[in-house]
Amino acid sequence: MKFMVYNVRDDEIPFVEKWGKDHHIEVKTTTTTLNTTTIQDAAGYDGVSGLQTIPYSQLLFAEFKKLGIHYLALRNVGVDNVDLQAASDNDVLVTNVPAYSPESIAEFAVTMALFLTRKVGYMQRQLMEQHKFHFAPEFMGRLISDQTVGIIGTGRIGRHAISMFRGLGAKVIAYDKYPVKETNGEFAYVKDLHELVSQSDIISLHMPATADNFHLFNHELFEMMKDNAILINTARGSIVDTQDLIFALESGEIAAAGIDTLENESADLQDSRSTKKLTDPDVIKLSMMPNVIITPHSAFHTSESVKNMVSISLNNLKDLVAGQKPDDLVN
Ligand code: NAD
Ligand code: COI
Repeated sequence: MKFMVYNVRDDEIPFVEKWGKDHHIEVKTTTTTLNTTTIQDAAGYDGVSGLQTIPYSQLLFAEFKKLGIHYLALRNVGVDNVDLQAASDNDVLVTNVPAYSPESIAEFAVTMALFLTRKVGYMQRQLMEQHKFHFAPEFMGRLISDQTVGIIGTGRIGRHAISMFRGLGAKVIAYDKYPVKETNGEFAYVKDLHELVSQSDIISLHMPATADNFHLFNHELFEMMKDNAILINTARGSIVDTQDLIFALESGEIAAAGIDTLENESADLQDSRSTKKLTDPDVIKLSMMPNVIITPHSAFHTSESVKNMVSISLNNLKDLVAGQKPDDLVN
């Protein structure tokens, strides 16, 4: 058996090498993104591991078929960027890693909420831009325990976020398209999304990107939100209309935003060796706002996550090549 691991970061390489040694399997790594050109490098390999937020397209799976590669093991949760029908049509089995460390993403959402409620961005800006180091009225924060937090998506990550916000003393309400019965007394479901957005001081997104929630957060929804509301998006960029978000922040429709996932993320975002500078005018604009924290899709990025993403995805690949059916099969 031999595998090719695409889009590898330097922090993943020791885990990949250890897994290869432990399992006596040849595993080659490359920092390149998986596309119709780079897949040619996997000719002769039994399976491929991938991690990217740009599309795994129909054309890409056609190349898999031509090369006789039948297995793609993702190292991440989301499959919104994978044309699963095309994978099946080209006899490619795809796995993901649904729970490498949901608490890592939840903790990051809480980190963003604390950064924004305690106005750390304002303090940083005053210090960095003006070299001033004293109190200012706009540094006054608010306690999370005085807030109502609205969680959208009460799955693995959302449930951890609920526990963490509860631990800080917040009242938590939630909305889920497919609500679970057991709330453990930690939160209450509201009847619909409109109720959640109009009642919450902090809204944290934890649902997958789907065709029906594209730009769900748009001008109409921002208008329903409280003026003091903070939106945290560690889910997927496509759920929020970026232009409408910028308008909502500039016009005071909402107070602040924590953005880890952006619309139209580039392949470059996941290239840890990239030397390119940011050019997207929307991202530059958002990054200049003291009431915004914007990060390069990094909510997942803890040592616990990386270890599990690598080992679980390579275990899945090994099982696939051995003819077994891993639990994490998604097509
Ligand atoms: P999960 O499947 O355990 O939970 C998702 C929940 O969302 C489910 O309860 C589901 O019923 C609900 N849901 C589905 N569609 C919905 C909708 N339209 N409105 C409201 N609720 C809806 O998934 P998870 O492990 O909690 O992950 C959630 C998402 O987080 C992933 O799909 C991925 O997009 C994102 N994610 C981001 C990072 C990051 O680093 N930023 C890392 C991992 C996952
Ligand atoms: C996921 O696991 O779905 C993520 O968003 C993490 C990212 C590295 C792709």
